[in-house]
Amino acid sequence: MPTAAIHHDPERRLWLLSTAASSYVLHVDDRDRLHCRHWGVRLTPEQAASLLDRPATDDRPPTDVRPATDLCPPADAWPFEDGSELPLDLAPAAAFRFGHAQLAVRFADGTRELELRHRGHEIRQRPDGVELVLAFADRHYPLAVDAHYRLRDDSAVIDRHLVLRHTGEAGDTGGAGEAVTVVRADSATWPLPPLADYRLTQVRGRWAAETRLHRTALPFGETVLTSRRGHTGHDANPWAMVDDGTANEEHGEVFGCALAWSGSWTLTVERTTADRAALSAGFGHAPLTWQLGPGERLTTPVSSGAWTDGGFGAAARQFHDHLLRFVLPHPEELRPVLYNSWEATGFEVSVAGQLELAKRAADLGVELFVMDDGWFGTGRSARTGDHAGLGDWDPNPDRFPDGLAPLVDGVRALGLQFGLWVEPEMVSPESELYRAHPDWVLHQPHRVRSEHRNQLVLNVAREDVAEWMLDRLDQLVSEHGIDFLKWDMNRPFTEVGPGDGDLLWRDYVTNLYGVLDRLRARHPQLRIESCSGGGGRVDPGILARVDQVWTSDNTDARHRLAIQDGYAQLYPARAMAAWVTDSPNPLTGRRVPLDFRFHVAMAGVLGIGGDLAEWSADDLSRARALVAAYKQVRPLVQHGSRHRLRPAGDDFSAVQFLAPDGSATAVLAYRTSRGFAAAERPLALRGLDPAARYRDLAADRVHHGAVLLSQGLVPVLGPDDYASALVHLVREP
Ligand code: GLA
Repeated sequence: MPTAAIHHDPERRLWLLSTAASSYVLHVDDRDRLHCRHWGVRLTPEQAASLLDRPATDDRPPTDVRPATDLCPPADAWPFEDGSELPLDLAPAAAFRFGHAQLAVRFADGTRELELRHRGHEIRQRPDGVELVLAFADRHYPLAVDAHYRLRDDSAVIDRHLVLRHTGEAGDTGGAGEAVTVVRADSATWPLPPLADYRLTQVRGRWAAETRLHRTALPFGETVLTSRRGHTGHDANPWAMVDDGTANEEHGEVFGCALAWSGSWTLTVERTTADRAALSAGFGHAPLTWQLGPGERLTTPVSSGAWTDGGFGAAARQFHDHLLRFVLPHPEELRPVLYNSWEATGFEVSVAGQLELAKRAADLGVELFVMDDGWFGTGRSARTGDHAGLGDWDPNPDRFPDGLAPLVDGVRALGLQFGLWVEPEMVSPESELYRAHPDWVLHQPHRVRSEHRNQLVLNVAREDVAEWMLDRLDQLVSEHGIDFLKWDMNRPFTEVGPGDGDLLWRDYVTNLYGVLDRLRARHPQLRIESCSGGGGRVDPGILARVDQVWTSDNTDARHRLAIQDGYAQLYPARAMAAWVTDSPNPLTGRRVPLDFRFHVAMAGVLGIGGDLAEWSADDLSRARALVAAYKQVRPLVQHGSRHRLRPAGDDFSAVQFLAPDGSATAVLAYRTSRGFAAAERPLALRGLDPAARYRDLAADRVHHGAVLLSQGLVPVLGPDDYASALVHLVREP
């Protein structure tokens, strides 16, 4: 039975969009403005229609003004107020719109105000749901705007985007044949209902400290989350959630939206002085402008939004479910346990050294071996450090005299898949590629070409560069039937040019997506990990084209708890790569026991990145058991639902994964340090059947669902700091 439905009430110009548990009600008023009249619990058509019978408080001046007198004008003439502060669902730059404009253009004659008229709608049945297209067009100028709303059965998420169309033709007179300048085109504005208060949830970060959850009261005015870096960024991520300040993990209304775009982006969270709020998400950043020529169209990326009254836990699960089922490629797959050589060998790679690591990894139960940086470049451009070689994607003949085949074959002979690190969008000035094509990089005339990590950014917006990139990767993957690429991107844009630098910001990402899509189509076996100096490129746009993301270059298990916690507020564990590395940690020097390091990495796609040649026999044997334990719970972690039992900020934190059919659950509990005389509180589990019994196979104990849900589970943790446990419970038949 389809749960996604759209009901149209033509008389009221009302559309009721319903997901399984929520409704979104759209209304075109008598001035052709598009409003969101409701975003929340599921309504019937009759209930939705009644929304318009309520007094329209929003369009009026404050209610505490006196009746009209000589000094106090009537409501419809309230000076300086016109209901203009009420966030609209399609928010154009237009007369009396003084807030954030989702859509702003400049016509050839200088006109900037939009006068949009509603031109009709279309409801399209889709195999997995239904889509509404609301059509608008400027009253005079050649611009049409279609607002798309896509709903899927059994999903709480609404996907929205805009299509702008220049409806003129070249040669048309009266300005209709001239380009329209697009100043802003956010994919969606999500107006929130009036809440008692507004609190913003976002992630903030930096290199090696990505995705840390941050909650703060929403200030009045416009709060702008953005990346002006060319990639998604470490410091912010294109999603935001708003609640009234009282929601917690389990309860309360949460409104969230995300943007599927991997270049520069802007997410504006607005709180008006009339105390209404809206989220608006779009690609690009101020002051970029884009020309829309006659006959051309501009399709924005998708902004996904979801409402829940089940708190931040439910909000996260709604987005996980959506990303797993409708965005990530191969949703049904389990990601393999991988080994990556970076922290073990750095740039010092050799056939013998890598094979030795692969042997040890295979012995632990690893399934995919990935050789990281340092394998390519020739002569003075050899990649023996970060000073050279990017762009020259041929194996370094000093290190691989017979090419990659001996290593690839050796790895395969161990029963492992083979993966390779690449950074295709970059070039080292010290490289054959740069010597041959100095004009292929982002640059501006008379400006220095700023290097970062000794590298420059290839202008992927150029078709020839994109084609070169595709061909080069195609060859590399074909030659060895490579199973996996770790696709890195290690610096932000600077000196964006030449030519129309504004357009370049957008075309770069479009071409990057095109290369990824075409490469995948040519190599159906290929799986890709997105990496950008760790977690600098995770967003729903890249997730449609990669299989997992390298979460952070920081592999310190303690820091990882917080990084993973924030990552998981939007992104699923199935896409979160996590390695167990050495102790002391190479980045932070912290010593953490092996079990704790494993248990932290087990909350995502488990990998190992330590120098296995240095691990003791005891550690190797314990690691083997922990990899086996991970494989037991892997379907729960990667395909189940995630419940944050205790947040990562505390000394004691825990996360639970539950099988979609409720047949098993896994709890990972972490205690970083023991409080003074602190007793551990049990962990009340979620989502179990109270009437069922659950067996802890490792401890050979049976628990009752009702007891686990109420009294909770008491994980057995050792006496020291950095104690952790994995408890795997299987429902008794
Ligand atoms: C980036 C990545 C690392 C590693 C190095 C190699 O920093 O995030 O994991 O691949 O590049 O140079």
